[in-house]
Amino acid sequence: MKGIDTLLLSVLFTLSSAAPAPSQEEYDFIIVGGGAAGLIAADRLSETGKSVLLLERGPPSTWKHGGRNGPEWAVENKLTRYDIPGLCNQIWMDSAGIACEDIDQMAGCVLGGGTAINAGLFFKPTNRDWDYNFPEGWKAKDMVAATNRVFKRIPSTDVPSQDGKRYFQESYNVLSAALGKAGWKGITANASPNQKNRTFAHTPFMYINGERGGPLATYLVSARARKNFKLAVNSTVERVVRKGGVITGVEVVPFGEGGLNATINVKQKTGKVILAAGVFGTTKILFRSGIGPLDQLAIVKTAEADKLVPEEEWISLPVGNNTMDHTNTDLVVSHPDVVPYDYYAAWDAPIEQDKQDYIEHRSGPLAGAAPSPNTMFWEAIPGIDGVERQLQWTARVEGSLGAEGDNLITLSQYLGTGYETRGKLTINPYLSMVTARSPYAATEGDIDAQIKGVASVVAALNATGSGFTFVFPPEGVDAVEYVKTYLGGKRSNHWLGTSKLGTDDGRKPGGTAVVDTNTKVYGTDNLFVIDASIFPGHVTHNPSAAIMIAAERAVERILKLRN
Ligand SMILES: Cc1cc2nc3c(=O)[nH]c(=O)nc-3n(C[C@H](O)[C@H](O)[C@H](O)COP(=O)(O)OP(=O)(O)OC[C@H]3O[C@@H](n4cnc5c(N)ncnc54)[C@H](O)[C@@H]3O)c2cc1C
Ligand SMILES: *[C@@H]1O[C@H](CO)[C@@H](O)[C@H](O)[C@H]1NC(C)=O
Ligand SMILES: *[C@@H]1O[C@H](CO)[C@@H](O)[C@H](O)[C@H]1NC(C)=O
Ligand SMILES: *[C@@H]1O[C@H](CO)[C@@H](O)[C@H](O)[C@H]1NC(C)=O
Ligand SMILES: *[C@@H]1O[C@H](CO)[C@@H](O)[C@H](O)[C@H]1NC(C)=O
Ligand SMILES: *[C@@H]1O[C@H](CO)[C@@H](O)[C@H](O)[C@H]1NC(C)=O
Repeated sequence: MKGIDTLLLSVLFTLSSAAPAPSQEEYDFIIVGGGAAGLIAADRLSETGKSVLLLERGPPSTWKHGGRNGPEWAVENKLTRYDIPGLCNQIWMDSAGIACEDIDQMAGCVLGGGTAINAGLFFKPTNRDWDYNFPEGWKAKDMVAATNRVFKRIPSTDVPSQDGKRYFQESYNVLSAALGKAGWKGITANASPNQKNRTFAHTPFMYINGERGGPLATYLVSARARKNFKLAVNSTVERVVRKGGVITGVEVVPFGEGGLNATINVKQKTGKVILAAGVFGTTKILFRSGIGPLDQLAIVKTAEADKLVPEEEWISLPVGNNTMDHTNTDLVVSHPDVVPYDYYAAWDAPIEQDKQDYIEHRSGPLAGAAPSPNTMFWEAIPGIDGVERQLQWTARVEGSLGAEGDNLITLSQYLGTGYETRGKLTINPYLSMVTARSPYAATEGDIDAQIKGVASVVAALNATGSGFTFVFPPEGVDAVEYVKTYLGGKRSNHWLGTSKLGTDDGRKPGGTAVVDTNTKVYGTDNLFVIDASIFPGHVTHNPSAAIMIAAERAVERILKLRN
């Protein structure tokens, strides 16, 4: 049985990925990277009938696209670790062959990128995410059609289990009761995207029919049905080939078995190369293509002088200088009502009933993300510098900061829209990407917002009768001291901003932008960046939906260009 299925799938795979050998053709569009942004572009560009090649460094992930990685009980049922929401946290246990190895952070180097390994939280952005951060052409009013297209293909759900029940609601119940008493209001997150001050919600996910869903299950499926679309996996793009500003193609090396080893060209005069390799991948490709800060290009030169364009062709742009992530601050509380679930144990030894419910009905605990991150809340802090800071909180059912116990909830504060601190992404002589300057809250205004946010939530949950006991901050430690001495992890895996979109051409003195408002790299004729890299500022929520919407918008703009 299994043999036949595998054979069928490999035939399907071959049909859309190999005949004729993609390396000999010239393409209208070459898209580099099959993650959140690249998958959207693959579908939207191939829809026009133009020839599109999507080059993905990693192997397939979800079952539908040929992935086979998972515990036996899943694979027997044609499911991989990527498909089952309750196995999403396995990435923190075992990420070999999945996580990118040439960066100092976590990112998915498999088909789907972050959307194959993330927890699937999926939010409609606030108007301010666009209006505060982006220039003309990218304001909230300009993003309406793109937003509607994304949410039409990937409608979010806050009831992932197919039996219509919400599991592990104890944390939601006790948190919403305490927040409600403090005057916060319950909302449906994606029905009220702009109500993000003292509100709480059941978390919306990109899951579809109890499986991971997202762009792999939608956009990539329709793209692969088209003859003019080709996909090559296990294929790493090292650099673009260019003469001055004219990009003729890309150089590809195999990353895994069967990967391409070739220079692949775009059509002369009209062909376009679109980078969607994520914040780390796109930055690396730009540097290796002679595009970036001159000191970074000099480092690349020490590593591969023979492959780098000559110095007179270098394009000096501040790539990597606007690096962002949500600054994470964890609080830990316990509450006697809270019930934990061992999602990690579900890999080897799932609870039989839960396994059956999932396999047969896509229902039960395994249809939801681990470790039950199903409660969210938001607050907007008026900034001491006049700039409002947006905070998002995610509650998940487990301890952190070393706290252990059965009734623990970790509350993670993310500092988003309005945040000011910027990090710097660089490359080292071994061609690994290094976050050389931390992106985490370092300015007075940013730290003040973190502190006020902590104080506000502690006050709400520490009220008499709420039933919560604080583990962190410990009794007697106020929010100021807690934030200023916080030793927990600050990373949120919500990287943005390394190739900032803007009108101030970064080649000029004082200019900060790497791509123009059509997402075209300054100083080039036909090189584009459309992924998380282009965000000028950070956003309110977990960013994958915002990144997909930006990619939809980028494609709209690219298709309107005369050439
Ligand atoms: C563990 C984790 C959990 C997360 N949880 C959430 C969540 O719940 N909700 C949410 O909204 N966001 C979440 N995020 C963030 C979200 O997944 C990312 O912001 C998003 O996927 C970034 O999209 P992207 O298109 O810029 O890049 P990616 O999705 O990272 O895609 C980049 C793709 O390019 C490929 N690539 C890289 N280099 C090359 C190369 N040289 N040649 C060819 N291909 C290349 C990669 O393999 C990858 O497939 C999470 C991220 C992580 C890591
Ligand atoms: C991709 O590479 C991996 C690792 O080398 C290999 O297992 C897989 O078969 C390759 N090809 C495809 C299509 O998955
Ligand atoms: C790729 O091709 C080049 C020559 O074009 C060859 O030197 C190299 O060994 C090949 N690499 C792999 C991994 O096949
Ligand atoms: C958020 O709500 C609180 C309480 O009503 C208010 O004090 C604060 O000013 C609001 N934040 C912003 C940025 O408007
Ligand atoms: C919670 O309130 C108690 C009683 O007022 C106080 O002693 C304790 O420090 C507070 N906890 C936190 C984390 O602020
Ligand atoms: C790089 O970023 C820093 C910090 O945000 C800023 O001060 C500097 O002007 C930036 N440089 C360029 C060239 O954009």
